[in-house]
Amino acid sequence: MTQIDDVKSRLDIVEVISSYVNLQRSGSSLKANCPFHQERTPSFFVFPDRQSWRCFGACAEGGDAFSFVMKHEKVEFREALQTLAARVGITLVNNEESRSNARELFEINDAARRFFQQMLDTEEARFVREYLERRGVNERSIQTFEIGYSPPRDNRLLAHLRQAGHHDELIARAALARETEDGRLYDFFRGRLMIPIRDWEARVAGFGSRALDENATPKYLNTPRTPVFDKSRILYAMNLGKEPVRQHGAVIVEGYMDAIMAHQHGYDNVVASMGTALTERQVDLVRRLTTNVTMALDGDPAGRNATLRSLESSWGVFQRRNSQNTSVSMLQQPDAMELRVAELPAGQDPDDFIRSDPGAWPAFLERAQELFDYLLDSLSERADMDSPDGRSWVANTMLRFVAQIPDPLRSDLYLDRLSARLALNNDTLRRALGDIKRQLAREQRGQAAAAAADEATPQPAREYHAVEEALLAFLLQHGTEPLEGHESTPSTEWFSRSENREIYRNVIAGEDAEQMPVPPELQAHLDALRSRELRLSNQAKRDKAWLQMSLALEKEHLNNEIRQLSSLPEVMEDLDSPLAQRLLHNNIRIGEIDRLLRPASPNNT
Ligand code: UTP
Ligand code: MN
Repeated sequence: MTQIDDVKSRLDIVEVISSYVNLQRSGSSLKANCPFHQERTPSFFVFPDRQSWRCFGACAEGGDAFSFVMKHEKVEFREALQTLAARVGITLVNNEESRSNARELFEINDAARRFFQQMLDTEEARFVREYLERRGVNERSIQTFEIGYSPPRDNRLLAHLRQAGHHDELIARAALARETEDGRLYDFFRGRLMIPIRDWEARVAGFGSRALDENATPKYLNTPRTPVFDKSRILYAMNLGKEPVRQHGAVIVEGYMDAIMAHQHGYDNVVASMGTALTERQVDLVRRLTTNVTMALDGDPAGRNATLRSLESSWGVFQRRNSQNTSVSMLQQPDAMELRVAELPAGQDPDDFIRSDPGAWPAFLERAQELFDYLLDSLSERADMDSPDGRSWVANTMLRFVAQIPDPLRSDLYLDRLSARLALNNDTLRRALGDIKRQLAREQRGQAAAAAADEATPQPAREYHAVEEALLAFLLQHGTEPLEGHESTPSTEWFSRSENREIYRNVIAGEDAEQMPVPPELQAHLDALRSRELRLSNQAKRDKAWLQMSLALEKEHLNNEIRQLSSLPEVMEDLDSPLAQRLLHNNIRIGEIDRLLRPASPNNT
């Protein structure tokens, strides 16, 4: 999460605006005479649910808390950010500083990586090489995956890094060493098989390490969270698998060894989630390359319930991503992301399976089922499907999955499937779904509260802005050239997120993407947009994408307004009012846009 998201997630727009304007309740929103122009009847509204504001009167502007403060105090983005950060008690750290700090961390990690690799070649590590050999890891894999060994005693890494001129403070910040009670440093990894973890850009972000004694705990010890390492934001082996994943789809396994063994046998589209449920961030990484994702699950009935929880969470991530992605998909991926699941035979993980029969892997993956069907089958096997209790247990478990589908049409499709399979009445299922949704909402509130209390796991940003960010990524890659050939340039107003507005403002001002003078706090967001891979190979594709994206952005903006307007009692009270007229106008324009977006049918030309 960026610092800006952090500030946002702690702000309440109603509180912010109330400190400038006297707001009155109006249905689920609040209203006031617009502070930006003279008027006698209020046309300025604040929408708490979407954390936005809009004037439907003469100024016809709107946005989030940042844009309000910018406009009201007549300040730039950066100053508004500082004002609001101070308000919620966040001290902004300078990004340039933090970027050079990150570079230092990657460098020292790389030095440690080389040290561990050298250690593996020493005589004292002979037993480690024997261990690898026993596990069937060949020489080439050892090289490719840069496997190493951390000596068990004498803080040798620490000594090595100090000798190379690294300061203790940096060594500790990289979590390569820890501090004792009395302030002395000691090596964090001792006597372990070392597995460097490279991030999307192939920088050594941290390490996984395995105990070499079967009884030692923990079996795996990973670098704790550092400014550059967060297990939940990295997929292991993705730095090696980008091209294969693009071509063949992604196969996600749990463990380091699973990924290494798969690559060793030429299955190099395999990446590892490192033992946890897929996170939003990991799914975003995969989505840059493919829509086709298969999870290869360990066949261990003991971990069934944990697997179920983990699948529930991965499923939720996919559903949310798909629903946010509708307009971008026109440009990048014609299909929604598809998550399929294949379960290994009991007691086997991908490493065991591939080692015992490497040629059987593709056929195994072929048998993968859509996640929903896989679960329905595996739950039905476990339950007594002849008893009402058994069926309702399956229904309730599956409804937790349905409950996470934001799109009502899709959710209905799944309800139908459940109702057919379980011979349960559709309306009954629907009512049960309502209960489960409320329960999930309660659980999520509990988690959000817990997460807020725990600084190390910040809440995810509240909203994503797929269309506006796809459009910006496009402009950052292709410059302002796309803007020139078209009659209408998107309005800054169409961007709902202030960060995006700010970047867009810079783009249309002709600023270079490499050296855009954005506030340092925005740099990370800008970098993320710039690193998107758009894969638009020729001019015709680019033109089409541009047209679709700018229309999609306009449509999103109109829809936002419609959502806002339809929540206002004023609109329903007087259908001739300017507000109601605006609602109508927006709907008409959306109709036009939909016609423009519809692919021309062949007999139509
Ligand atoms: P597994 O326990 O399935 O390990 O954890 P594995 O990969 O089969 O290991 P081997 O074959 O015994 O060597 C799967 C993954 O979960 C993470 C690691 O990424 C591991 O590869 N994990 C597991 C941890 O991070 N910490 C742990 O203590 C255990
Ligand atoms: Mn294993």
